[in-house]
Amino acid sequence: MNTTVSPFDPVTIGPLTLRNRFIKSGANEAMCMDGFPTKALVKHHSDLARGGIGMTTVAYMAVAPEARTLPNQIWMRSKILPDLQVLTDAVHAEGAAISAQITHGGSFVTGMKVKGRTVSASSGFNPAGMLKGNFLQRAMNEDDMKRVIEEFVCAAELARKAGFDAVELHMGHGYLLNQFISPLSNRREDEYGGSAENRVRFPARVLAAVKAAVGDTTAVLAKINVADGTRRGAKVEDGIVTAQALQAAGADMLVLSGGRNVESTWFMFGSRMNREEIARVLKAQGDWLTAFMMKGAAAREPDVTFREMYFLEYSRKIRAAVQLPLAYLGGIKSLANAEQAVAEGFECVVMARALLHEPALVNKFRSGELTQSGCDNCNGCVAYIYHPAGTRCVYRPANELALNRVVASAHE
Ligand SMILES: Cc1cc2nc3c(=O)[nH]c(=O)nc-3n(C[C@H](O)[C@H](O)[C@H](O)COP(=O)(O)O)c2cc1C
Repeated sequence: MNTTVSPFDPVTIGPLTLRNRFIKSGANEAMCMDGFPTKALVKHHSDLARGGIGMTTVAYMAVAPEARTLPNQIWMRSKILPDLQVLTDAVHAEGAAISAQITHGGSFVTGMKVKGRTVSASSGFNPAGMLKGNFLQRAMNEDDMKRVIEEFVCAAELARKAGFDAVELHMGHGYLLNQFISPLSNRREDEYGGSAENRVRFPARVLAAVKAAVGDTTAVLAKINVADGTRRGAKVEDGIVTAQALQAAGADMLVLSGGRNVESTWFMFGSRMNREEIARVLKAQGDWLTAFMMKGAAAREPDVTFREMYFLEYSRKIRAAVQLPLAYLGGIKSLANAEQAVAEGFECVVMARALLHEPALVNKFRSGELTQSGCDNCNGCVAYIYHPAGTRCVYRPANELALNRVVASAHE
């Protein structure tokens, strides 16, 4: 154990130095309109930056229009450059760095109908697409791979131009790159399927291309699953192979997560999804069908007892197998948790729910005002990604509606 490092110490991640080791995890803010960031999104991230974190992460920005999961989701294009610049300036003005989580949903498209078949690692029936009629998925061929690599590179270049200090490639939770890594969705028989080494081959190509394009000035991170949390899903042994391949491809840091959006959300969050709250929020928007499906899914979830640092046993195994910087994520609820994570050799500590509950948590940890988060893992914040005012902790005041675009004159 390294007892000399404090989570308040600066840290260098590739070309980037952070003022401390606390990072706000990418957590779908749902504060965008027609693919544009809103003023609410700027406020959300500048509040977090003012609260003392080293870096915030803007969640879930699609690399192309057909890469979206939800219709309002930001998708990376030059038209939104002025909006993104306002966002990054606002965070930098508070002394924090800002990372862009860039993603492709592949066949995980729950909020809109995609023209033709959605792409994925393998073809066949697409359970995640049922609600909006995306019933079938198509296995990507080499031309598709080249196109998607180019889309990730363009998105990363746009992020750099907009002033983002880092890009985080989403390779976990069941999105396209994870659809390759996970045996739950990869049934290929070519060099991109079968062994864990083969399944990570395409995501590693994407990372290497992004690194070659922007890595001299921009930290290139990947969020991966330590495991999928299901019997037939990726195990920690697969997570180790994934981490080693991404290290070889040039990643500056890996953010260690777990679980899949469809098969194992309880594993991702270490506690049951609050589907009752999700159903309430959806019904209020008139979306009775999704509300009904969500309630049905609640009945199939196993009972889970929340444990602080619920990914620690898995993440330790990854730590022991690679040398590159790693960020611990999952159930950080106290200063003692954060101190333990860095003492065990994780360079950074990543939090979502604790910072939604208290955006100034890091300043409060530093001043001694708090040593423990008041978040009770109710997952009510997840329900609010379906609300027009975006996510919030249910114990905090309501957000203002996320209606106003950042730079109205640039595109109206
Ligand atoms: C409201 C909400 C939205 C989320 N959306 C995303 C997302 O867009 N991308 C992502 O990688 N993870 C997302 N997550 C998962 C978190 O980033 C994180 O992995 C998870 O909450 C566990 O960390 P925690 O225990 O610190 O909350 C979301 C979590 C919450 C609470």
